[in-house]
Amino acid sequence: MTTPRVENEAFEALLHEQRRFSPSEAFVQQANATAELYAEANADPEAWWAEEARRLTWSTPFTKVLEWDAPFARWFSDGTLNASVNCLDRHVEDGRGEKVALHWVGEPEGDRLAITYSEMLAKVSKAANALTSLGVQAGDRVAIYMPMIPEAMVAMLACARIGAPHSVIFGGFSAEALADRILDADCRVVITADGGFRRGVAAGLKVQIDDALKLCPDVDRVLVVRRTGQDVTWVEGRDRWWHEVVDPQPSVHEAQAFPAEHPLYIMYTSGTTAKPKGIFHTTGGYLTHTATTHRYVFDVKPETDIFWTAADIGWVTGHSYIVYGPMTNGVTQVMYEGTPDAGGQDRWWRIIEEYGVTILYCAPTAIRTFMKWGDHLPASHDLTSLRLLGSVGEPINPGAWMWYRTHIGGDRCPIVDTWWQTETGGIMITPLPGVTATKPGAGMVPFPGISADVVDNDGASVSNGQGGLLVITRPWPGMLRGIWGDEERYRETYWSRFDGVYFAGDGAKRDEDGDLWLLGRVDDVMNVSGHRLSTAEVEHAIVGHPAVAEAAVVGASDEMTGQAIVAFVTLKAANQVASGGEAALIEEIRNHIAQVISPIAKPRQIILTPDLPKTRSGKIMRRLLRDVAEHRALGDVTTLTDPAVVKMIDELMASHGEEE
Ligand code: WTA
Repeated sequence: MTTPRVENEAFEALLHEQRRFSPSEAFVQQANATAELYAEANADPEAWWAEEARRLTWSTPFTKVLEWDAPFARWFSDGTLNASVNCLDRHVEDGRGEKVALHWVGEPEGDRLAITYSEMLAKVSKAANALTSLGVQAGDRVAIYMPMIPEAMVAMLACARIGAPHSVIFGGFSAEALADRILDADCRVVITADGGFRRGVAAGLKVQIDDALKLCPDVDRVLVVRRTGQDVTWVEGRDRWWHEVVDPQPSVHEAQAFPAEHPLYIMYTSGTTAKPKGIFHTTGGYLTHTATTHRYVFDVKPETDIFWTAADIGWVTGHSYIVYGPMTNGVTQVMYEGTPDAGGQDRWWRIIEEYGVTILYCAPTAIRTFMKWGDHLPASHDLTSLRLLGSVGEPINPGAWMWYRTHIGGDRCPIVDTWWQTETGGIMITPLPGVTATKPGAGMVPFPGISADVVDNDGASVSNGQGGLLVITRPWPGMLRGIWGDEERYRETYWSRFDGVYFAGDGAKRDEDGDLWLLGRVDDVMNVSGHRLSTAEVEHAIVGHPAVAEAAVVGASDEMTGQAIVAFVTLKAANQVASGGEAALIEEIRNHIAQVISPIAKPRQIILTPDLPKTRSGKIMRRLLRDVAEHRALGDVTTLTDPAVVKMIDELMASHGEEE
């Protein structure tokens, strides 16, 4: 495990400068959050969370709050509720049925829909009836592999409605990665689409499912939404069109209440081994956490706000802050199907102007991309509807933070840099708008009712001005309830580093004021453009290529994507290529990775090397390789079996240049 290091000199300089932005008086006046929240929540976190939980619609009110048998938490366990009812029915019953739930914007120009809460309820009810007609019962897992279209949300809420945990798999994953996830959760039903529009082309999704299902013989039902109209192959008896099965169903569905600890969904994420982990979340605590953080962190006013999380529904950000948090709070949202440059590099700014978006939530990678594309693009649109900006998914460098504030937020919108994980379910560390003064690049403080600490290798809190490992010291409502089917791995991964304390895998620094700066992963998890990938997973894919003997992968810092994948690869003796013939093989390996995992896992750079640096016990020295990949001076190499190997790799890197 490496010690986190502060990103660069500019970062340090700003840290010392301690630049601050205090909330404006106007914002303070109307903010949902107040300074008292911290005192109230911290005086009795359980009572505070219980108060927040009572804002949900419960069929049976809970009397128990937290049962903590470390590391297993149960929240509100004797209460019953239905997540879909909380997201839909109660808004309709309260007379808000005509309010727009979703302004959906398709990638092709002019392709758009406005869907009200009543319409959404009818769609979800039909889909719930359809799933029941296909034999899906409470507890059965359903895989969802969809583009960013309303049916993705409909499918998720329909599963929730009948108590069938969904496992949404990001549309960028390839057939093998899909199959692994479908098999691990033993899904028997898959919901997908023919494809989706990305960068102006109709990309195929059903085709990946067809390949994946060759490895998943137990899947006997596939529902396919027609989105692009492209040709698809069809397995009679297994495949059905969504519109043929769902549309004729009754638009009323009597939802059953489930216990608060009933599993709501599984979301696969990368850990430090090659096998992705099925993080699972349950219902009552998760909904409480996502709705509460959504209300205070984004300061949402459901009557007037137009909320936009520009993330994919296939990641946890989409689950918590497109589906469950915002829908529970009954806001109007924008959902956009495509890439930021489809129809022009100002597409986002056009959407904001057109719909009067008031709150934007996105990842630093997107912000850095927009910086590169130029200030003139946002400047040519009226973005004055915006009143709050959020960032998530990776550390935001102070330069990007300032650009976001100035060029998107018009120097008037507070920025909330929100730290959290698939495992935490919802936001954990963030400023509160209207309350917390912000510093460019800092996550600032734990959310009310959340207890975080920065500790050294022995688990002792570090003092102000020091860096260390981020831990969460008390259970929280949205916390993962486990890794699907692997209790031991759950204990081992999160709870074994320090006794009774959740170790997040991130480094953090507490500055002189005691405010938190998130510094990224300290384990073998990489964060590439906000996508979480494990070094082991990519290595595993590379060694699956017939020419490869061994591979070592590291995440090297990258100005645009945060981290970039660099792979060091040795070939089997018979496959040594003459110099000059390398390029073709490297390209082949890259494509192989894309096929096994996803195009997002393609390395920025692949270095073919005759050997890899190892310790005397045979472990690959990743830290050293990271130094090489980031062009840092090499440190101590005395434990290496062959220091010459490192020197050689360093020379190889230099001769290859930075980019391929
Ligand atoms: C990183 C995404 C710095 C972190 C919601 C974490 C961040 C991992 C931030 C989780 C942030 C997320 N500042 N780093 N504001 N937000 N991270 O599971 O390393 O896809 O452990 O969840 O992203 O990624 P995941």
